[in-house]
This record gives sequence, structure tokens and C-alpha cells, in this order.
Amino acid sequence: MLDSLPTAAYILASVLFILSLGGLSRQETSRRGNLLGIIGMLIALAATAVRLAAGEAFGTTGYAALAAAVIPGAVVGAVLARRVQMTAMPQLVAILHSFVGAAAVLVGIATFLGPHSEHMTHSEQIVHLTEIFLGVCIGSITFTGSVIAFGKLQGFISGKPLMLPGRHLLNLFMVLATISLGIWFERTSPEQALLPLLIATAITGVLGAHSVMAIGGADMPVVVSMLNSYSGWAAAAAGFMLGNDLLIVTGALVGSSGAILSYIMCRGMNRSFISVIMGGFGTAEGTAPAAGGPQGEVRSIDVAAATNLLRESKDIVIVPGYGLAVAQAQHALAEVVRLVRDRGAQVRFAIHPVAGRLPGHMNVLLAEANIPYDIVLEMDEINHDLPKCDLVLVIGANDIVNPSAQDDPGSPIAGMPVLEVWKAGTVIVMKRGMASGYAGVDNPLFYKANTRLLFGDARKTVDALLTALRA
Ligand code: TAP
Repeated sequence: MLDSLPTAAYILASVLFILSLGGLSRQETSRRGNLLGIIGMLIALAATAVRLAAGEAFGTTGYAALAAAVIPGAVVGAVLARRVQMTAMPQLVAILHSFVGAAAVLVGIATFLGPHSEHMTHSEQIVHLTEIFLGVCIGSITFTGSVIAFGKLQGFISGKPLMLPGRHLLNLFMVLATISLGIWFERTSPEQALLPLLIATAITGVLGAHSVMAIGGADMPVVVSMLNSYSGWAAAAAGFMLGNDLLIVTGALVGSSGAILSYIMCRGMNRSFISVIMGGFGTAEGTAPAAGGPQGEVRSIDVAAATNLLRESKDIVIVPGYGLAVAQAQHALAEVVRLVRDRGAQVRFAIHPVAGRLPGHMNVLLAEANIPYDIVLEMDEINHDLPKCDLVLVIGANDIVNPSAQDDPGSPIAGMPVLEVWKAGTVIVMKRGMASGYAGVDNPLFYKANTRLLFGDARKTVDALLTALRA
């Protein structure tokens, strides 16, 4: 009975993880998806404990090892999750990926050093060693790549791409060296195989760090989801090494969903996956407008005039961006939207696929403020409506509404699809000053004749709009 219980529980947990992913794909069902994932994880933990009781995994001392891993992990995770700001979520996700990578490296080396089964045939032995080698290499790339991504997103490391001369050749050399080490690892005697395994760990570690160092600015969303995918494959490899079916299934789910997300992000930015991993796009965050960039007159607007425009407009689109998340203005904004809709105006939100700093960032912010889902539209659903709209409110967004992505082939964001807000009657851009966005590119939208800049912290400005609308 005890033998079959964990297997049944693992199948149930796998099903719950699949249902969880399905739920997370839509705002309306995302809470349920999250809950199903939590239940699946609790079942997985309980099943692992039962496996230990059955003496299948590490014997009875396994309980101490399990408690030593689970209790501090749960405490640190809970404290971090409570404290982390939404705007710092990408960094947290990146560092969590590094843990998965490190775990895969450690599991791989421990499996290699641990007792070998005497009953393996020659081909089983080759498959087993390949699992170890691949798991360790993928884990090492994920670990160092994620640590560098964390440093870049946290600002410890410059967001600028590191462009070493001959960097592609260097990467190619490291890949070829790793393959050669893999052949050496498979062919040599078990006593001597540790050396190629450790050298390969070091080389793939440098490869992971170097690849992410070469990626900059606006490509970071793709890097985070790409590392998410790698962490899944690293976990699946660890699952093969440990003979744990649930880890294989979960790793494959994370690996493939991360790969699909990377594809969606690339499409959102009109970039090919290969050109992203080849690196060198975008610069550092928050830089001043480049000299020689678009110049012209900036027309500012005050709260009273902006309130009048809000009162007079019948068709309003709001474009939220990273600055809305920084200012935490979503609750006051929801109230503004309610008042304007009560007056009979149509209000819709336009969401760019890479707005903010993590996939779905804006959807989460708006859901937090209970903004109805049916007025929140994706870029492709609303872009063609913008020319008909009276007023666009751009709140703390910059790169995602930058016309130079379409007009200036030399721009670092050339080709990235953007929300064509300048085609609307009037555009009000709320921001604090003239700083550029994440990609570090100047924005000609600010100088267009129908654009008005409403300067100030978005929270204060939205609060002031709300007070004026209520008056
Ligand atoms: P950004 O282009 O980064 O622009 C944000 C703007 O908000 C800035 O120009 C800033 O100008 C303004 N701002 C900041 N704090 C503010 C505040 N408290 N009140 C008012 N305004 C404030 O943001 P975006 O348009 O959302 O574009 C996202 C960018 O991030 C893209 O380049 C994307 O590639 C990148 N990225 C996305 C992700 C994902 S997955 N979504 C992950 C990493 C990077 P001021 O300083 O002048 O106020």
C-alpha cells in the first residue's frame, strides 16, 4: 500500500500542475490555477515524505534531511514572498532559477559520486552517465546565467551588453570543449571521470555567465523566461538522475512553458530567439536622452486641463507601464476609471506584451485593483482602434509607446511592435521627468503636436485627477 501511494500521489500532483498552468493562462482563472499549483506541491511534498517512510529514497534518516531542507526553505521563501515588491519580482524569479540550476549541479555530482548500481547493462550505464553530464551542464549554465540576470535586474551589474571581441567564437569554443569533455567523461574509467565532469561544470558556468552578460536592456524579459525554461530542463535532468517521475514531469512542464513564453516574448518584440541569445540589443536603464536624438518642444499640461479632457472624452484608452507599478497608483486609477465610466465614457486598457518588468505585470496590477477584465485588452486587440479614440492616457510607460520602433530603422528598438498611441486625438503622458525607459532610447512621442506631458509621480498625479474629478 505504502509503495503505490506515492506513485498515485505523484500522478495526481502532475495533473494538478497541468491544470494549474491551464488556469494561469487567463486572468479570470489565475487564482484557481495558483491554488491548484499549491495543492499539487503540498501533495508532492507529502508523497516524498511517504516514500522516505517506505525506505525507498534515503532510509529513515531521510526525515532529518527533508526537514533540514524544507523548513528553512519554507521560512525564507515565505518571508521573501511577503516582502518583495512587484517591481522586484523579475530579480526574485531570476535568483530562484539559479537555485534550481545549483540543485541540478549538486544532484548530478552527488549521483556520480554515490553508489553505482551493479545491475546496469553497458547501454544503461551510457544513458545514466549522459543524464548526469547533461544535468550538470544545463544546471551550471542556468546557475551562472541566472545569477548574472539577477545582478543586471537588481542593478549590481550594468544593464549594457558586454560585447567582447570574437564572443561568438568564444561561445562556440566553449560548446565544442564541453562536447569533447562529455565524450571523455563517457569513455574514461569511473575513477578518472570526475575530472572532465568538473571541468565541464566550470566551462558551462562561464558560458552561462558570458551569454547573459552579452544580452542587454530590452532583451532582459526574454532572458528571464529563457532561464525559466533552462531551470525546467535542469529539474527534469535531476528527475532522471534521482529516478523521480514527478520531477521529470514538472521539469518538462516548466521547460516547455518557459520556451513557449520566450517565443511569445520574442514575437512581442519582433525579435528572433537566435538574435536575442546572440545578444547586444538595448542599453542601460533610465539614461538621459541621447544627444542628437529627437528634439523639439515639449508641451506640458496641468491636472485641471487633464481633468477637463477626461470629462470631455467619450473614448479613452489607458496604457499602463512600469512607472504605474513603481508609483503603485493602480487603486486610485481604478477609482478614476469608475468615475469616468459612470459619466458614460468608454474606457479600455491597452496592454503591451512586455510592459513593466515581468510577463503579465500590468495584468496583475490591474487585477489587484479589481479593474474589470473585459476592459483590459492586449496590444493586438486594441492597436487598430487607437486612431478612433479621443484620449490616450500613458501612465509610466515609455518604450512600449515609442514611435521610433517603427520610424527609425537605426533605433535599438527598431521593429519592436508598439502601441500606436500617437494616432489618437490627444495623448497625455504621465511621468516624472524626461528620462528614457528600460531600453535607454529617447522617445519622439513626447514632442508630437498632440502629446501633452503631465509631469509628476504617477501616484500623486492620479490622486490629484481623482480629487479634481470628484469636485
Ligand atoms: P519603461 O520603458 O521602462 O518606462 C517606464 C517610464 O516610467 C520611465 O520613462 C519613467 O520616466 C516612468 N516612471 C518611473 N517611475 C515613475 C513614477 N513613479 N511615476 C511616473 N512615471 C514613472 O516601461 P514600459 O513602457 O513599461 O516598457 C517596459 C520595458 O521594460 C521594455 O523595454 C521591456 O523590454 C523591458 N522589460 C520588460 C520585462 C517584461 S517581461 N515585461 C522585463 C524586463 C525588461 P521618469 O523617470 O521620467 O518618470
